[in-house]
Amino acid sequence: SNWTVEQRYRRVEQISQNSIDAMVKLRKQDAGYPDYHIAPKFGLLNDPNGLCFFNGEHHLFYQWTPVGPVHGMKYWYHLSTKDFVHFEDHGIGLHPDQDYDSHGVYSGGALVENDNALLFFTGNKRDENWLRVPTQCFAKMFADGKIEKHGVVIENNHYTEHFRDPKVWKQGDDYLMVVGAQTPEKTGSMALYRSRDLMNWQHKGPIQTRYNNLGYMWECPDFFEIGNQSVMLFSPQGVSSDNPYDFKNIYSVAYLVGDRLNLDSAELENHQDITQPDYGFDFYAPQTYLDDSGRRIMIAWVGLPDIDTPSVEHQWAGMLSLPRELKIQDGYLIQSPLSELKALQGEAVAVENAFELDTTSFMVQLETDTKTDEFELTLANAAGDNIVFSATATEFILDRSKMSQLYAEKFGCVRKAPRLSTKQTIEVYVDKSVIEIFINGGKHTMTSRFFIDDLNLLSITGDVKTVYHSIGPIKGLD
Ligand code: FRU
Repeated sequence: SNWTVEQRYRRVEQISQNSIDAMVKLRKQDAGYPDYHIAPKFGLLNDPNGLCFFNGEHHLFYQWTPVGPVHGMKYWYHLSTKDFVHFEDHGIGLHPDQDYDSHGVYSGGALVENDNALLFFTGNKRDENWLRVPTQCFAKMFADGKIEKHGVVIENNHYTEHFRDPKVWKQGDDYLMVVGAQTPEKTGSMALYRSRDLMNWQHKGPIQTRYNNLGYMWECPDFFEIGNQSVMLFSPQGVSSDNPYDFKNIYSVAYLVGDRLNLDSAELENHQDITQPDYGFDFYAPQTYLDDSGRRIMIAWVGLPDIDTPSVEHQWAGMLSLPRELKIQDGYLIQSPLSELKALQGEAVAVENAFELDTTSFMVQLETDTKTDEFELTLANAAGDNIVFSATATEFILDRSKMSQLYAEKFGCVRKAPRLSTKQTIEVYVDKSVIEIFINGGKHTMTSRFFIDDLNLLSITGDVKTVYHSIGPIKGLD
């Protein structure tokens, strides 16, 4: 788009009420604006940030550019919910109001401790030559909801200007932090830091794995334990693959499952091959947290850096994925939508062949049996514009080459995923302009935006038992 740097970096106080009203008006007219996914009122949403369960509620923040549907001055926008049905809108949680974050409060994670939630973030500052001067910082959120910045705790002494997105956890008496970092040799890495007091951080170096040479930058690192295993989850840039499934988007998401993090050698011991959680077109920067019932919950950005979606015409861009509970099985992360979402579902309706949709916010469950090889699920309009999810005996295929509005065609209009078994229950969540498909028992998903004008038809071919539920809107955000 043709925005100047000055325009992109306009601060929220510099945006007139008229301009905000005009953006909101256009957004409200957009048939593609979701009902049960979190999206910005106007402007651009990217990464989920500061996810935590704190003071009896789930807190979600996201990267937000208020000035318009572009990447520019970044804020943390704050929401909370007890049940993922009713949300409270807290407005901006963190403003770029310090010298060290003069060009944006960038991504990071939260650590809940005692009566506070510590919100770690990257202070993104640019110098006179527009070079980034990133630092790792934190703010404190108190039980009454107030948020106060503490300031910088880590300066950049070991990496190139690409050094951001801190995630902190506690292990015994140690605090550990991973940061997405580009080494001086220009490779992507997860930089590890260790601290006893949250103020002084010792640099342990990039976490050692068999993938020390994968891509030029890893954004949005996460590190967590699940079952008896340790998981490194990250968003690598500059990775491609010859196989038909992996690393087809401009940037990707991947994870490594290992036994444990050896703090002396900074090595993820005994880890498996790299795996992708998602095979769709738009999935990036996932972050996880633990809630009060011990669930590991993951939320991602349904979107990608450097890709514009058609919703920019309506002055908004980006949404968050459904919250997904993670488990681990056979070395795979197993993803399933949080059970809370069932409260939004209408009655089950059996689907035979074709179905005229009276709402485009719904889910369908497809049950294949051991004899079902091929099937095809099509979402279309009267003119025949469509998106097709289909399967062969060995693959799942998502084809958006016949949407009304194409984008990112340069990266292809078809994505494929391996089909790990013939018999399975597949869940397809559709919400206006987003589709999230849970396949292979949750071992994989296919998450994508799609744009079909006047979408009103669902059809299914093949021997699959199909059940439809409408899904009502989440409440409290307008
Ligand atoms: C990932 C990312 C992060 C950065 C943030 C800025 O999408 O580039 O690395 O912190 O977005 O908005």
